[in-house]
Amino acid sequence: MAPKPIRSVGILCSGGDSPGMNCAIRAVVRTAIGFGLKAYGIQRGYQGLVENQIRPLDVSSVGNIIQRGGTILQTSRSKDFMTVEGRAKAAANLRQHNVDSLIVIGGNGSFKGAMKFFDEHGIPVAGIPGTIDNDISGTEYTIGFDTAVQVAIEAVDRIRDTASSHDRTFLVEVMGRNSPEIAVHVAVCTGAENIVFPNQEVEYEKIAEHIKRGMARGKNSSIIIVAEGDGPGMSYKVQKKLEKDFNLPAHVCILGHIQRGGAPSHLDRYIGSRMGYLAVKSLNDGNYPLVTVQRDGHVTTAPFKDCINDKLEADREYLELVRLLSI
Ligand code: F6P
Repeated sequence: MAPKPIRSVGILCSGGDSPGMNCAIRAVVRTAIGFGLKAYGIQRGYQGLVENQIRPLDVSSVGNIIQRGGTILQTSRSKDFMTVEGRAKAAANLRQHNVDSLIVIGGNGSFKGAMKFFDEHGIPVAGIPGTIDNDISGTEYTIGFDTAVQVAIEAVDRIRDTASSHDRTFLVEVMGRNSPEIAVHVAVCTGAENIVFPNQEVEYEKIAEHIKRGMARGKNSSIIIVAEGDGPGMSYKVQKKLEKDFNLPAHVCILGHIQRGGAPSHLDRYIGSRMGYLAVKSLNDGNYPLVTVQRDGHVTTAPFKDCINDKLEADREYLELVRLLSI
């Protein structure tokens, strides 16, 4: 039996915000209206859905937001939506507003919630990967990653200026939770001397040897990019050990949430816009549940089951690359 055609689309953001979410929201709303559908914004993610914070959006509600970081719809991590009762409330709220499909911009945890929602209530859902971490299985890209990396690169370039003026070693901690992606890209693009991967044994001897070799050949600064892992502060542990066991003092700079804000880059605007369009088109064509993804460089769609795991493998080859290029 052909799926029932949809007449309206609700959109929400879930989990940590990321630059480019507004581009996707704009594309969803305008594509929906262009297709003759009604568009609704859900404020504060799944929590707002449970609490009935749903409002109609028109063409001008998403005007002048393509260049803005964050999300005009705000976001949250909702405990209520994790419960059967919470999801039932959410479904009832959507029905009350005659919203008959839902687009979720977020990470893999948010996608797991969307899948459950579809299984329990049959509401057509589509996911758009949005997180600076680029840690979702099944897609090469998540919206916000490029901007976050660029922000971190600019910060490390500045740190390099002062580090070399003072003959210093810096540990610069980047976001990404348990994913090495931001750390690897930032390290390669800033000429950093080393990377500390999340949840892996730190190779203190190799790091110390590399710094000392650099000093011996007249290098006047070293930058080590530290992936935050389970939470901010890993750099302090590394700092203590380098000082105590190798007599190498180092400064710490934790970049933190600076990486999550600011105007989206070209890539985040472009991919965000394309994924927003494709999510609505797929729902409108009766293709759901699915997630918009990037594969082999193309924006396409994939089943939810492909996109609910973490992509956390740290490729050791990048470590070799970083060390060789900063020899
Ligand atoms: O959105 C992903 C992320 O920024 C991670 O890189 C980071 O570990 C985490 O969110 C921080 O979350 P929050 O400060 O929103 O609790």
